[in-house]
Amino acid sequence: KKLFLTEFRSGYTRVCGTLMPQTHKEFGNKILNMDVREDDTFVVSFPKTGTTWTQEMAWCIANDLDFERAKVFLPERFPFLEHTTLFDYRDLFAKRPDMNFPLYVTNSVQYVSELPSPRFIKTHLPWELLPKQIQDGSKQPKIIYVARNCKDTCVSYYHHSKLLEGYKGSFDDFCKLFMGNSLTFAPFWSHVLSFWKRKDHSNILFLKYEDMKKDLPAVIRQTANFLGKSMTEDQVKTLANHLSFQNMKNNPAVNYEAVVEINRTFNLIEAEGQFMRSGQVGEWKATMTPELIKQFDSWTEKNLKGTDLTL
Ligand code: A3P
Repeated sequence: KKLFLTEFRSGYTRVCGTLMPQTHKEFGNKILNMDVREDDTFVVSFPKTGTTWTQEMAWCIANDLDFERAKVFLPERFPFLEHTTLFDYRDLFAKRPDMNFPLYVTNSVQYVSELPSPRFIKTHLPWELLPKQIQDGSKQPKIIYVARNCKDTCVSYYHHSKLLEGYKGSFDDFCKLFMGNSLTFAPFWSHVLSFWKRKDHSNILFLKYEDMKKDLPAVIRQTANFLGKSMTEDQVKTLANHLSFQNMKNNPAVNYEAVVEINRTFNLIEAEGQFMRSGQVGEWKATMTPELIKQFDSWTEKNLKGTDLTL
């Protein structure tokens, strides 16, 4: 059976083994050669693993719980480095000059280069595509990597692709694409492992979505410690409340309703739904057939053989 996705991911290319849009050829070199600053904080992840949650946590800790400035739209405070590469809105925007799109959307790489320090930068790039200064160790910014169970990541990515990327195929086909490493930023496992094997570097913090769900205050304390910030127990509690799923879902600065709205304006999507969707651990159990679960488990076993990562 032919997968729907030949169309969904046409015009993509492999860069160092990672599936990226063709436009990454243009922007990828700029990213490789960009100037990193020692006081930058990066949040790095495979898509749908809790990136937004981790960004908001890190930003609030680093900015002494400044909830007033946290009302600024997250991508402006904490831009998505390769956004320009992913969504080439230029043709669309040309048709709607009235909409006046900001630079963090249309040229994220330039936007990041012009930000004052300390900068906060989100990226989904694997280690091998990060700026050379990070890879060769000549600059050591703080890097927080967040990982999530592959089955829950796949369920979340499926809904995301329907909501924001026009995916119209079935869930089963999407799972095949996930395991076939045919989604943007795939392969999943080499992405996670490229940071797992560096998790003991002093400038890298490796977090898991499941730990944040289980004990968010503990992860807040761990992250504050990593970022060199001290927090009172009251502050930890206040931040955990700010970061609850319900509060993030209702917070326009982080819930991406505005982005969903832009896509609707351009008729890019037909699907209903929200970015802050369900926020659960183990949703796959109710969503995947026993056959799919078996496939995911053997795929996981094969890829984690010889490593000490559990996810
Ligand atoms: P679901 O689709 O499973 O609900 P990313 O930011 O990497 O795109 O990840 C999005 C996923 O993180 C979504 O998962 C979203 O609901 C979940 N998420 C975002 N904020 C959260 C929070 N405060 N608590 C729990 N999950 C959260």
